[in-house]
Amino acid sequence: MDEFDMDGSIPGVKPAGAKKQQSGMDLDTDGSFNGKRPVIGIIDRYEITRPLGKGAFGEVYQGWDTVSRLPIAIKMIPAEVGADHEEMEEIRYNFGLTSKLYHPNIVSLLHLHPVDNTDQRARELGFKKSDFLIIMEYAPGETLFAWRRRQPNRVLSLDKALSCCAKIAEAIDYAHSQNIIHRDIKPKNVMVTRQSTTGNHPSEMSIKVLDFGLGG
Ligand SMILES: Nc1ncnc2c1ncn2[C@@H]1O[C@H](COP(=O)(O)OP(=O)(O)OP(=O)(O)O)[C@@H](O)[C@H]1O
Ligand SMILES: [Mg+2]
Repeated sequence: MDEFDMDGSIPGVKPAGAKKQQSGMDLDTDGSFNGKRPVIGIIDRYEITRPLGKGAFGEVYQGWDTVSRLPIAIKMIPAEVGADHEEMEEIRYNFGLTSKLYHPNIVSLLHLHPVDNTDQRARELGFKKSDFLIIMEYAPGETLFAWRRRQPNRVLSLDKALSCCAKIAEAIDYAHSQNIIHRDIKPKNVMVTRQSTTGNHPSEMSIKVLDFGLGG
């Protein structure tokens, strides 16, 4: 078994087309589920497709933007933060700065979205009118935290660690050149995916740093 899945979405699960997946879902490399998205809720233009993980703000979901037809990640801003004018102003300000970062090793922020319409399923997941959502680029793969835990003795080889650190450093260096600091750099804010490449290096790790500028 490879260390990474080709689509990087579910560790230990083969890519779509290769084999039926444990969950019965077909995930493809871009997260579009090969057009067979298992929609578990709808919020305005966004379909919610599956939970990705839980953080201090709550559950983050994978989704699909039906307008751009791109996979996205959806993070809900807790209602008490959304209701606090000062905190929301700070989030808006940081969002404005951070959404100007364009780098292959940084997950792009797409929209700060005020919820209008939800279906019953989305409401059961906890989404409601006037909540604010952070809509981000979807990064396939697993967190550096999870990936490291799956290594022999839970230790990354020197090669892998150096390669990872170099890519994270590139992202941070670029952000600093734009006068933006991360504020919460940690293994759970780094996604690791295998990229197929040609030539002598059959697979290469891709790194995407999450949550730039959104930390406390
Ligand atoms: N853009 C994204 N693409 C893919 N997965 C994501 C994305 N953003 C978050 N995730 C997944 O969702 C999980 C939860 O993210 P979140 O930022 O809420 O929490 P955290 O960073 O683990 O912890 P904390 O809230 O304490 O910072 C992540 O660990 C990751 O697995
Ligand atoms: Mg995070």
